Amino acid sequence: MSDQNACVLGMQWGDEGKGKIIDLLSGDFDVVVRAQGGSNAGHTVVVGDEKFVLHLVPSGILRKGVACVIGNGVVVDPDQLLSELEELRGRGVDAAGRLLVSDRAQVVMPYHKALDAAKESALGDNKIGTTLRGIGPTYADKAARTGIRLCELIDPSVCRTMLQQNIPFVNKVLQDVYGADPVDPAETIDWAVHRGETLRPMTGDTVEFLHERTRSGKRILFEGAQGSLLDVDFGTYPFNTSSNSSVGGMVTGSGLPPREIGRVIGVLKTYTTRVGAGPFPTELDDETGLLLRERGGEFGATTGRPRRCGWFDVVAARFSAKINGVDELALTKLDVLAGMDPIKICVAYEINGRRTEAFPARAAALAAARPVYEEMPGWRGETAPGGRLCPEAAAYVDKLCEVTGAPARIISVGRKRSETIIA
Ligand code: GDP
Ligand code: IMO
Ligand code: MG
Repeated sequence: MSDQNACVLGMQWGDEGKGKIIDLLSGDFDVVVRAQGGSNAGHTVVVGDEKFVLHLVPSGILRKGVACVIGNGVVVDPDQLLSELEELRGRGVDAAGRLLVSDRAQVVMPYHKALDAAKESALGDNKIGTTLRGIGPTYADKAARTGIRLCELIDPSVCRTMLQQNIPFVNKVLQDVYGADPVDPAETIDWAVHRGETLRPMTGDTVEFLHERTRSGKRILFEGAQGSLLDVDFGTYPFNTSSNSSVGGMVTGSGLPPREIGRVIGVLKTYTTRVGAGPFPTELDDETGLLLRERGGEFGATTGRPRRCGWFDVVAARFSAKINGVDELALTKLDVLAGMDPIKICVAYEINGRRTEAFPARAAALAAARPVYEEMPGWRGETAPGGRLCPEAAAYVDKLCEVTGAPARIISVGRKRSETIIA
């Protein structure tokens, strides 16, 4: 196993604070690579008084001299990528020459977004609550072998032919199945060819690039998006995203072998949030839930939707630790719990009268789960006066490490880089 690379993954339903942790660590790495997901991600990084929210561009871009890679496993929305790069440039962060996008990455087409919206609306009350960024339909096309990759987008004649083949089918689905508006074929082809031209200079063979960097001893940091409970295989199916957001996705989405993943750092919020629909056993529909949302600023970084909030879920965290082989934890937002007394953690579920510590496969079973809580004493004052955790906060951290079976090397007690305790 590589002792110099590392991988940062979300262990819950996303928004654990991965952006902050990646930014914190990326100064010690040469390359930061995104391997899955797309612009459904929203990674917030606070540098000094400035706040950046990154969706497609790896968070490492905020560190000068760090090279960034968008790997083959990512689905790339050209408009989103270009507008993000422009915004960064406007704020003094020049990504030119520092960002390489995989020629094997799938392209999110305007019709993928139209399909995402049409599907969600057809589902009515049963909708997933997607980010409407076209993620599901793009991964569906990838699996169906009808997707268009960057290497095809940048070749106008190939791109045109593929779109001429795809669009009539897509429009039939949009119109006849969903009763939605079709996309304009000529406009879509024109858009694709132009975006291909713009993206050509930053598109390349990221597999070769990553292997060459590895050979020359450079350090690589993998930036996970979403969280393990949103993983298409291990998440709360079908209320999940469409990529493997757990550790396997880092391998298939980058072209680096498992031994190059390095140490696996699992990011855990010290309570739980979820945005979008789906089961959430520890959700609090009360004052405490509202307090967590307000104090934690729990509003989606991508869609602005209020996040659902609840207590820490040990059953879910243990499941994530297991499937990812988490070596260490980065615990975030501990400061948000200050003033809450007692603090509850869910140590088991009761499903149809039976106690279990296993995370169920069926969303319906999870929806029926009643949390079994243990209580921990809270704290009233500052969480980490003088940079040291107060005794109750330290005991809570110890408890989370004990139940997940991994040590906490990073404890975050605020949004800023400086508001962090490194153990
Ligand atoms: P990500 O998707 O995992 O990168 O997380 P998001 O950026 O979507 O959401 C995390 C939010 O919590 C962001 O607004 C961060 O600035 C903020 N945040 C991260 N760590 C901490 C922390 O320790 N304390 C507080 N109060 N906020 C934090
Ligand atoms: P980061 O990287 C939180 C959720 C959506 C929805 C489900 C499917 O910021 O942690 P999709 O658009 O992917 O088809 O939506 O997944 N979701 C996220 N929730 N954080 C994210 O990313 C998410 N990306 C997708 O809300 O429930
Ligand atoms: Mg987020």
